[in-house]
Amino acid sequence: MQTIDRLDVLRNAVAQLRADGSTVALVPTMGALHEGHLALVREAKRHADHVVASIFVNPAQFGPNEDLDAYPRQLAQDSAMLEAEGVAVLWAPPVSEVYPEGFVTHVSVSVVSADFCGASRPGHFDGVATVVCKLFQQVLPDKAFFGEKDFQQLAVIRAMARDLDLTQPHVSAIHGVPTVREADGLAMSSRNRYLSPANRAAAAVLPRAMKEAIGAIENGAAVAPTLASLEGALLQAGFDSIDYAALAEPDTLARIDALPGGQARLLVAARIGGTRLIDNMVVGG
Ligand code: PAF
Repeated sequence: MQTIDRLDVLRNAVAQLRADGSTVALVPTMGALHEGHLALVREAKRHADHVVASIFVNPAQFGPNEDLDAYPRQLAQDSAMLEAEGVAVLWAPPVSEVYPEGFVTHVSVSVVSADFCGASRPGHFDGVATVVCKLFQQVLPDKAFFGEKDFQQLAVIRAMARDLDLTQPHVSAIHGVPTVREADGLAMSSRNRYLSPANRAAAAVLPRAMKEAIGAIENGAAVAPTLASLEGALLQAGFDSIDYAALAEPDTLARIDALPGGQARLLVAARIGGTRLIDNMVVGG
């Protein structure tokens, strides 16, 4: 595996991978890798000849009161994990390579970004869309892989690729990979490491309560009171606050108050002991 931190070197390396007509998949990450990220790499390997993974803790997607400095950085450990998975190139640029002095351009995806995490974290999705647009232009992958765990992020990236007519990767080549979960159902996340043992135990109530709510809605229970019970169960289990618990249309992320004919998505963000956890699950269909 080649580890690269300069854009000109990256472009040469990717050109060499492609020289014999091979395909390239991109797996963008911010590092602090866990099984969820490795599932993205494995899926990417199934769909392309070579995998380029990126590790870049993107300052543009952190708000002023968020954990940019505290965000875990463990390049040596992450790099060994990616190498063991057969990644061809690790793109790990410094901030100055991605946002050189004088950088003034931003990508902003409206509507899909507005609600949910976009409302709780103003500017977050502009930062995500900007860096992912740049990563796509830097690597020019045939395909790209993102976790469904960040469901709104995936919708934002798809909207950006569609609206900007990106060809590499085309919007149809942006793959969402199902969330990888711990044995007790908690969605894997780099943020889980911030939970105290007691809060980690309580956090498992989140996927359980979501499944219960989904079962109720699929059996005809009214959406609003079911979501209110879900919020109550989380607060009772020790969560401090709920940012949102909502049923949404899966492409536009418009809130819906009844199960449509097809699938919907249950989206939840809740805080426990200073850590913000998000999760989502399919409903119906
Ligand atoms: O999901 C992440 O890790 C990040 O938001 C991403 C897509 C790598 C952009 O910085």
